[in-house]
Amino acid sequence: MKSTIFSAIAIFATLAAALPTAAPAETTVGIPAPPQFQVLQVINSSAVVNINEDTPDTALGVSTIGVVSRTNNGHNSQALVKFDFPAGLGGHKCRLAFGSPSRFSGTGRIQVYTIGDANIASATFNQRPFRDQFKGSFRVTGWGEAEVVDVSGLTFDCPTQGAKAYEVVSVGDNNEVIWYAAWGGLRIDVL
Ligand SMILES: *[C@@H]1O[C@H](CO)[C@@H](O)[C@H](O)[C@H]1NC(C)=O
Repeated sequence: MKSTIFSAIAIFATLAAALPTAAPAETTVGIPAPPQFQVLQVINSSAVVNINEDTPDTALGVSTIGVVSRTNNGHNSQALVKFDFPAGLGGHKCRLAFGSPSRFSGTGRIQVYTIGDANIASATFNQRPFRDQFKGSFRVTGWGEAEVVDVSGLTFDCPTQGAKAYEVVSVGDNNEVIWYAAWGGLRIDVL
């Protein structure tokens, strides 16, 4: 009896002594992500305006949803998406990202361009800020993050405080990507 208690204590003491050496090994398991993948802040869109080829002179105005679609080589709907960059992002990289669609079908492929002016509220298909630089493309394949297809200009030096707008267009035919601006779609990750 006495020797059983003694050996139980001895085993416990051996285990306890082993613990400090086991602990440092565990700390090497969590490898920190490289700094370029750390998102410090998310900038959500401040306005989405859809423009539609079928109603080319109608200003559809600011919408709660973004609609990017193309059917039978036409009937394009494109989304103009505005962001208000806050002050204080000097020295940071900004990255365009797309996620959380509410509906998608077809190719699921979308391209993003900069546009010449952030004044988009009254834009129509025929009268809108000019399409400027290609920034990159995504393929929407599910309800989470879209796959990056062309990374080209998706990451850039964050601009100084102010508004910038982008255009999201469909790639290929019989395609539809729709998102609720309050939940997802095009956004800017600050790195
Ligand atoms: C941006 O939108 C996401 C998704 O709706 C939300 O979780 C997040 O709080 C928003 N961020 C800001 C800064 O509004």
